[in-house]
Amino acid sequence: MTATNIDYDRYDHVRPLRWTGVALELLDQRVLPFKQEYRAFNGSDAVAGAIHDLVVRGAPAIGIAAAWGVVLAARDVQAASGTEALQQLEPALQRLNASRPTAVNLAWALARMRRVLASAGGDWQQVLEREAGAIEAEDLAANRRMGSLGAALIAPGSGVLTHCNTGSLATAGFGTALGVIRAGVAEGRITRVFATETRPWNQGARLTVWELQQDDIDATLIADSAAAHLLRSGAVQWVVVGADRICANGDVANKIGTCQLAIVARHYGVKFMVVAPSSTVDIATSDGDQIEIEERDPAELLSARGERTVAEGVRAWNPVFDVTPHGLIDAIVTEQGVLERPDADRMRQFHGG
Ligand code: MRU
Repeated sequence: MTATNIDYDRYDHVRPLRWTGVALELLDQRVLPFKQEYRAFNGSDAVAGAIHDLVVRGAPAIGIAAAWGVVLAARDVQAASGTEALQQLEPALQRLNASRPTAVNLAWALARMRRVLASAGGDWQQVLEREAGAIEAEDLAANRRMGSLGAALIAPGSGVLTHCNTGSLATAGFGTALGVIRAGVAEGRITRVFATETRPWNQGARLTVWELQQDDIDATLIADSAAAHLLRSGAVQWVVVGADRICANGDVANKIGTCQLAIVARHYGVKFMVVAPSSTVDIATSDGDQIEIEERDPAELLSARGERTVAEGVRAWNPVFDVTPHGLIDAIVTEQGVLERPDADRMRQFHGG
């Protein structure tokens, strides 16, 4: 099977967001894999809360959710033009923007909503709804394109390791890194898939291996701490991950633990691929030191499934993203193409800025 004739119905079963015309329904990712529950959100602050609480998560998906959040906020606004509406909507936009700090897709989607609003006339509410729909549809198309581009880098018969969840659950569908893996499996290039647990929230254990199971893709879960041992074994030729922000010099913020995978991959001669739509590229941020890294409640480290596992009084630190320096990255794949050995010059040529 070639990249151009992947059966997307066969390889893409899960949808994290559903716009009903009156509400945004989100597949609650806090309770997967054992409960598959869509929850309806009717207002923008409720959507901001859902993003903050990880009901919906993954950089592209939170951007799309925020765009629909703006559409919901618009329901409470009476205005004769887009510019007038924008003034009234600005506080809601800022609350959406503040719901999570690291993934640039959130600010990117809100900037797109502001831009169309600024030039809209009396039909500004329909304009907003069309734009949110376009953001979602373009993300799905970008993922399918990246799947083909990324898979083409992988030699037939390869093994891959992925981290966190970058699949349909984290996007409009198909996924970024997991899209490459779907395409690579469909084409027979990938014959072994490994996924990390991704402590402490367990996106890999709870979401990625479940999502792959929905597509009948065989995957093996490993403890985060087993990664070096696995890469040393020769079973893996590519580590394939997503991104929350790609800086002007090619540094990449992604789920905590990504940087140590890149270091180990380089040590053992395993290639390292970052897959993300161009909405994740942030040319305005020069390098990884400038990225705000989200820190979440240390309680995530102190208990498992609601039961405390750590002695009372112990302190914990819970940064949930890290920065992989561009020098450790072999390829960045966006829907615009493949950038090998990214650095500031190549990023400028490829992504402008
Ligand atoms: O905290 P999360 O689960 O939102 O973090 C998600 C990641 O780090 C993903 O790798 C990234 O957003 C890319 S998702 C296509």
